[in-house]
Amino acid sequence: MRMYDVILKKRNGGVLSREELRFFIEGYTNGSIPDYQASALMMAIYYQGMTKEETYELTMAMAESGEMLELSAIRGVKVDKHSTGGVGDKTSLALAPLVAACGVPVAKMSGRGLGHTGGTIDKLESFPGFSTQLTAEEFVENVNSIGIAIMGQTAQLAPADKKLYALRDVTATVDQLSLIASSIMSKKLASGADAIVLDVKTGSGAFMKKEEDAFTLAKAMGEIGASAGRKMAAVVTDMDQPLGNAVGNALEVREAIDTLQGRGPKDFTELVLTLGSQMLVLGGICSSALEAADKLKQAIENGSGLRKLAEFVERQGGASRAVYEPELLPKAAIIKEIKAPCAGFVSKIICDEIGSCCMMLGGGRETKESKIDLGVGFVLHKKVGDYAKQGESLATMYANDEAGLAEVENRFLAAYRFSDEKPEASKLIKGILVF
Ligand code: URA
Repeated sequence: MRMYDVILKKRNGGVLSREELRFFIEGYTNGSIPDYQASALMMAIYYQGMTKEETYELTMAMAESGEMLELSAIRGVKVDKHSTGGVGDKTSLALAPLVAACGVPVAKMSGRGLGHTGGTIDKLESFPGFSTQLTAEEFVENVNSIGIAIMGQTAQLAPADKKLYALRDVTATVDQLSLIASSIMSKKLASGADAIVLDVKTGSGAFMKKEEDAFTLAKAMGEIGASAGRKMAAVVTDMDQPLGNAVGNALEVREAIDTLQGRGPKDFTELVLTLGSQMLVLGGICSSALEAADKLKQAIENGSGLRKLAEFVERQGGASRAVYEPELLPKAAIIKEIKAPCAGFVSKIICDEIGSCCMMLGGGRETKESKIDLGVGFVLHKKVGDYAKQGESLATMYANDEAGLAEVENRFLAAYRFSDEKPEASKLIKGILVF
């Protein structure tokens, strides 16, 4: 087989076979197929698309390009959750312990991530000493004994995707639906969970700006998982404004703790309960989402979710005291209110601009090598639909460096839009798909 012919076939609108896709993934992973040919194929796929079967075969080839995690030693149905990401998305921090407290084992691999804030692992490192460097044995042992473990994504997990995603990033071929679906699902399938709940975001702070595209992506990912024999559900959710109020690593940890104490923001709490319900149902613990939501609410009310977070942090070497005394989490030195320039209802918040402001404060990574400042970020006091008087605080900004603060503040204010009329509330949960 020649790579030239594979590229030509796709360029001309052909359907690639399992053998052709495997030939490509194997050759690209071992270095025998060069970047320029892989780039050409990615661009051909970008324009010609892929069928459902091709997308599945590409996913499986990438998932099997490295280590497939074997979790059969963990008792019960292992349920994972994946979010396509957005601003203020700290969902796993509250969701994973809450679900574990209800009896569903959570064995999760998470990443660090580039962008507005760190990934789940960076956020968890707000607990001094916390480590995600677990061996496979420790990972299994922790889930069996306390019901939860989160480990860092290893280099052996779907290495083909790692290489290909980096290539797509610099060849303008990231935003192709089949490529996104196969990239995400290859990592999820290689991480070994029996059931997966997807949180597919839509809106100005999401990959999928249009709701219709988010549903198409949710369906594509759900179908791949189901074809691979996993139980799947996907929830399409709003990311047209930041999730909850906190944006920034340690600030988000604090908000997750508040949520486990029943004092979290309404939207964030609703999301945790919705995703958690799907996880309990797929995990076989509850027979309906309604019953599951009640169980999760009880775990908030009786404190078992919060205790599970502390147990989990402690088990992975972190200072669990900070769960009960969040003032021990990293803090910024400069605290400044950002005030409303006029009176009115907040009609829009350009979501990814708030993320970029957090990045400017040092809360996110520009390159893989950048160091994250865990203490910086924002706590929003006004969100879409809220009324602000002129001069009232829209948000509190947490920073560690005076330089550039005025620029960040101006950019933050430019992301807010006001109107005289109260805007219509947009729904947080756009839809739930079960496969
Ligand atoms: N996240 C991924 O892991 N892959 C993509 O292609 C897009 C988002």
